[in-house]
Formats: sequence, C-alpha cells, structure tokens
Amino acid sequence: MKIAVLPGDGIGTEIVAEAIKVLKVLDLPFELEEAKVGGAAYEADGHPLPDATLKLAQAADAVLFGAVGDWKYDKLERSLRPEQAILGLRKHLGLFANFRPAICYPELTHASSLKPELVAGLDILIIRELTGDIYFGQPRGRRVAVDGHFPGAEEAFDTMRYSRPEIERIAHVAFQAARKRSKRVTSVDKANVLETFQFWKDVVTEVHAQYPDVELDHMYVDNAAMQLVKAPKKFDVVVTGNMFGDILSDEAAMLTGSIGMLPSASLNSANKGLYEPSHGSAPDIAGKGVANPLATILSAAMMLKFSLQQADAADRIESAVSAVLAAGLRTPDIWSEGTQKVGTREMGDAVVAA
Ligand code: NAI
Ligand code: MG
Repeated sequence: MKIAVLPGDGIGTEIVAEAIKVLKVLDLPFELEEAKVGGAAYEADGHPLPDATLKLAQAADAVLFGAVGDWKYDKLERSLRPEQAILGLRKHLGLFANFRPAICYPELTHASSLKPELVAGLDILIIRELTGDIYFGQPRGRRVAVDGHFPGAEEAFDTMRYSRPEIERIAHVAFQAARKRSKRVTSVDKANVLETFQFWKDVVTEVHAQYPDVELDHMYVDNAAMQLVKAPKKFDVVVTGNMFGDILSDEAAMLTGSIGMLPSASLNSANKGLYEPSHGSAPDIAGKGVANPLATILSAAMMLKFSLQQADAADRIESAVSAVLAAGLRTPDIWSEGTQKVGTREMGDAVVAA
C-alpha cells in the first residue's frame, strides 16, 4: 500500500506527523513516501506542485495531504500560489467527489456553536462536486465592460458551468453513499435563479430514477444554509456543486465544534483518493504545537476505508479518537472547562496509545 505523504505548509507538517505516527502503529505494510507541496515546494523548486510531487501522487494508491497556503504568498501570481497545488492534484487525479462527514462526537456537543440538543448525535455527509462549477469554468478574467450597468467600467467575471456527465457521476456517488446510510439525499441547488443549477436539479432527478430505494429532495442553497443551523439533523447525505459545497461544508464544520475535527476524502472514479483535513494551513497558529491533529488522523482512517480496503484498521483509529475524547483530552480549539488541554503531539500520542 503506497501512500504519498504531502504535508504542505503551516500546521500541515505538524498534523500530518501525528497521522503518520498513528498509521505506523497499525503495523500494516505501508510504503510511505513524502514530498513537498504548496508554499514549501515553491520555496524549494519554484512551483507549488513540482512534477516529482505530482508523479509520486499519481503512482501512489492514496495521498495523505496536510494543508497549503500562507498569507505571505498572496502577492504571487495565481499560478504560483500554494492553493494551485491542491487544485492541480484534484485535476490531474480526477478527484471529482469530495466527502465531508460532519459528525458531532458526544463529548463535543458543548463545543458546537449551536445548542447541544440541536447537534447531539449529528452525523451528516456533505458530498461536494470538486472539479467543475464556477471554480473552473471558462471564460474568466478581467476586461472593460461593453454592456451591463456600467459600460466602459473595469469588470471581472467567472463562468458557472456543469456538463451532464459531471452531474451524473456525482449524483451516482451520492445515491450510492446514501444506500449505506439512512437512504436520504438532499440535492442543494439554486435552480430558481441559475440555469446551471436548474440543469443540475433535472439531471439529479433523472439519475434518481435508478435508485428507487433512496429518498431524494431538493433544496435551494440559501434555505440549506439556514436549515443547517436551524435543524442540521434533518439532513443525511447532502450533494451539491463545487462552490455551494465549499461554503456549506465549512458551515457544517462549525456544528461539530471545530474545523480541526473534520476529515475529508476526495475520490476519483477508481476510488483512488486524496485525504486531507477540511481546514487550511492555519498560519495564525502554525509552529505553536497547538493545532488539532484529529481531522488529519480521521482523514487517514477514511483513506484506509475508501482506498486501501482496511476498514478494520479505520475503525480502530476512529475508536481511538473517541476514546481520547472520552478521556477528556482537548486541543485548545475544542477545549472547555473541566477538560485537559493538550498540544498537537500529546493528542497524537494519546491516539497512538489508545
Ligand atoms: P484555516 O482553515 O487555515 O483556518 C481557519 C481558522 O481555523 C483559523 O483560526 C485556524 O487557526 C483554525 N484552525 C484551522 N485548522 C485548525 C486545527 N487543526 N486546529 C485548530 N485550529 C484550526 O483557513 P484560513 O485561515 O482561511 O486559510 C489559511 C490558509 O490556508 C490560506 O492560505 C488558505 O488559502 C489555505 N487553505 C488551504 C486549504 C487546503 O490546503 N486544502 C483549505 C483551506 C484554506
Ligand atoms: Mg473551504
């Protein structure tokens, strides 16, 4: 089992180190190979996604990724910014399905920004389409407006687009995932205003005909944003486009207490995947040894389950995380009165021990 390890920038290196410790204690035949990505790769090689890193990722059975980015790269031209590495990996590996489970651990119901009764037992799965939509649509750019409200003025534009096959494949992923859960899918769109998302709604509805055992409903994204903080447990599987999914999954993250708890998987049609925490490189806390490594450790568990067929090992990691939380250990992002504050390393060590 070849795993490409790409720690990246900021807290990326700190949290990936903890996930590696956890993988090593499982005593499975992993081949771990590390490479630079993001700002770290730019500093070393002048490019955020060097060829060698991309080749390593392509040759591996799975990629374990930390995070990339730092404010100090904000002035770089877009193609050299650290974030381009993750977009490049998604594109080259064809990672179109992003799984973001939002699970509220019983010990953390009080860390949520919502009332404990609204999040107790929360276990929803947001499936975000990852390679289409306005994030990739062409044309895009800046120009002088020839029409609109201010002809002659400088303007910028992006293009929202989805093709039928792109929507069909993510819809299949969502219905299949729902079959393993409570068999309910909510497709989130903005069909009332956007043609792209009327098409999305139509195609998802067509694909649904092949899954009569799964319940489908549709919701506008503004209402979905509202329902997520009003009654999040009403959802089970949520499937949506790239931009709405980006925003809603961060919103859902907060329901669980901390973005430091949220793993993610990005899969292609061969179930090869890139596994990373849902958060970024957190430059504000990088190097301080306080970042929560659990999102990354749980991402490694998802990797074992989805790409490496090691569901038992994944379960062992998930139970260890629960045990450590039950024992009262907390990094500062999830700390509350009466629990024990620990750093990144102590948290990783505790999971290893558990
Ligand atoms: P962020 O997720 O890095 O941080 C947001 C807030 O959450 C910060 O206050 C941070 O300290 C906190 N936080 C994040 N992860 C944490 C953890 N494990 N434990 C404790 N606290 C944690 O998002 P932000 O600040 O918007 O972006 C920072 C950089 O990360 C930017 O350069 C951005 O582009 C990049 N980024 C990279 C991503 C990736 O590599 N996939 C995803 C999102 C952002
Ligand atoms: Mg985001």
